[in-house]
Amino acid sequence: MHPSERPRRLRRDGLRELVSETDLAASDLVAPVFVDATTEERVPIESMPGHERVPLDDAVERVEEVLATGVEAVILFGIPESKDERGTRAWAEDGVIQRATRAITDATDATVITDVCLCEYTEHGHCGVLEPGARPDADGEDPAGHEEATLTVDNDVTLDLLEKIATSHADAGADVIAPSGMIDGMVGAIREALDAAGHDAVPIMSYAAKYESAFYGPFRDAADGAPSFGDRRHYQMDPANAEEAEREVRLDVEQGADVLMVKPALPYLDVVRRVDDSFDRPVAAYNVSGEYAMLHAAAEQGWLDLDDVAMESLLSIKRAGADLIVTYFAEDVARRL
Ligand code: PBG
Repeated sequence: MHPSERPRRLRRDGLRELVSETDLAASDLVAPVFVDATTEERVPIESMPGHERVPLDDAVERVEEVLATGVEAVILFGIPESKDERGTRAWAEDGVIQRATRAITDATDATVITDVCLCEYTEHGHCGVLEPGARPDADGEDPAGHEEATLTVDNDVTLDLLEKIATSHADAGADVIAPSGMIDGMVGAIREALDAAGHDAVPIMSYAAKYESAFYGPFRDAADGAPSFGDRRHYQMDPANAEEAEREVRLDVEQGADVLMVKPALPYLDVVRRVDDSFDRPVAAYNVSGEYAMLHAAAEQGWLDLDDVAMESLLSIKRAGADLIVTYFAEDVARRL
């Protein structure tokens, strides 16, 4: 009995590459960079081996390291010098991201994407302004008598602040604005504010389908943005839902999003595929901190080959339909491409 089809014929060296369906290039990758206004020295991020928070004075040097690997884009996260109830340092003209963006865009050709959110800037660590009565009292009791997963972030008050943050980032020279707070109407509000400030050429990469994921753990250490009480279930998406992701993404498209992001990446490849199939906009996927940390942890044990699993992960994300990938593996993988 001989098979009539022999797919193995095309798997020979020299042929395999010719017929390969998916390519990964350094120009598809975005490297996260953490700029920390509270330190004068680089601080390693323990749960994300190879990554550091860098002081403002090192921001340019850090981005030059990224560029040297062939990666051309960075996404900036800031750790402010101080936090308060409303996150006012997020839109300060001399804020950590504003200063870093100015320095980086003056000194390098990097494409600078800025994350627009409040969680690193509010003392309670939520992604917006709290509703009255949302905070538990000293005994951990919610004074409004809410169950845990209640609406604690005031959506529309937060929108006003997101507009200020986005405009201040664009004023500082950001090439792309990336709102990540999952606040209803954030893309439309930011689009209007940017246009009114003369930044109509600055695109918005929306974290359009961002899930309430346990894979963000290491990032919350890195950026010091863990909520001090409660969780983000009332604004980030339920991991059970994919149809709802289409609705979230559609709303962002209607409000003017230029690039649509799905986050996390590997546990949500079905969502990446759906967004790519359903919308005629570039799709981004965020290969998050937990996805990075778990591969590192297994590799440290000698259980996985880090280079191989990193490459396979990013290839899978592209195969699922992503045009670009935000990933902590960006530099390592780019060096090998
Ligand atoms: C801020 C933000 C988060 C991440 C990116 N932007 C944290 C969160 O929502 O808790 C996570 C990135 C990662 O885990 O790598 N809203």
